[in-house]
Amino acid sequence: MNRQGGDRLYFAAIDEAKLVVLAGELARTAPHEGVVTLQGTLGAGKTTLVRAFLRALGHAGAVRSPTYTLIEPYELGGRQIFHFDLYRLACAEELDEMGVRDYFGPDRLAFIEWPERGAGVLPDPDIEISLSYAGGEDCAARDVVLQALSMAGREWLARLLSSDNAQVIAPVSQACVQDMGGESGACP
Ligand SMILES: Nc1ncnc2c1ncn2[C@@H]1O[C@H](COP(=O)(O)OP(=O)(O)OP(=O)(O)O)[C@@H](O)[C@H]1O
Ligand SMILES: [Mg+2]
Repeated sequence: MNRQGGDRLYFAAIDEAKLVVLAGELARTAPHEGVVTLQGTLGAGKTTLVRAFLRALGHAGAVRSPTYTLIEPYELGGRQIFHFDLYRLACAEELDEMGVRDYFGPDRLAFIEWPERGAGVLPDPDIEISLSYAGGEDCAARDVVLQALSMAGREWLARLLSSDNAQVIAPVSQACVQDMGGESGACP
């Protein structure tokens, strides 16, 4: 297995169980504040990852996709966690009207699905997570790329990389990424 240090981590063709392990390790190594954006088409697994992250921090209740509410707040592990789904956002200015800037800062962690809809209003992310269909018959495999975009994000990935559980899901080296299918096959 190759390990990829630095700004990027890749997980090739992982199933949902492994994605849940990855989300759990992200939770275990998470900083107290930060912004994570989630890229990927409909059904790629963005909400599934956030749900597993919240469960790993002890959230026992339902985790609904905030498709209509746009934001769901949680209080876990001494911090507030905000789960955004901006798919139905009419325009970025709507976020300003919602006072969205209060959702970022000390002891606040944000996960944002469809962040491009809030461009210009949202802060820069610490980590961008990209999920794509890896191809294959059952459409259950995802390629996942974690890209650190700040010092805090790089430190988070370093903690993740040094965790034993992350090694179980086997991050691969950058050289292998060219061979990853990405949005291929008959999957949606
Ligand atoms: N490897 C996998 N990782 C994540 N989800 C998977 C995987 N394999 C199958 N799934 C299934 O794919 C679906 C992903 O749905 P999810 O709501 O998480 O997508 P999403 O990216 O949030 O979509 P949307 O843009 O509509 O909000 C779930 O039904 C999940 O069970
Ligand atoms: Mg979603």
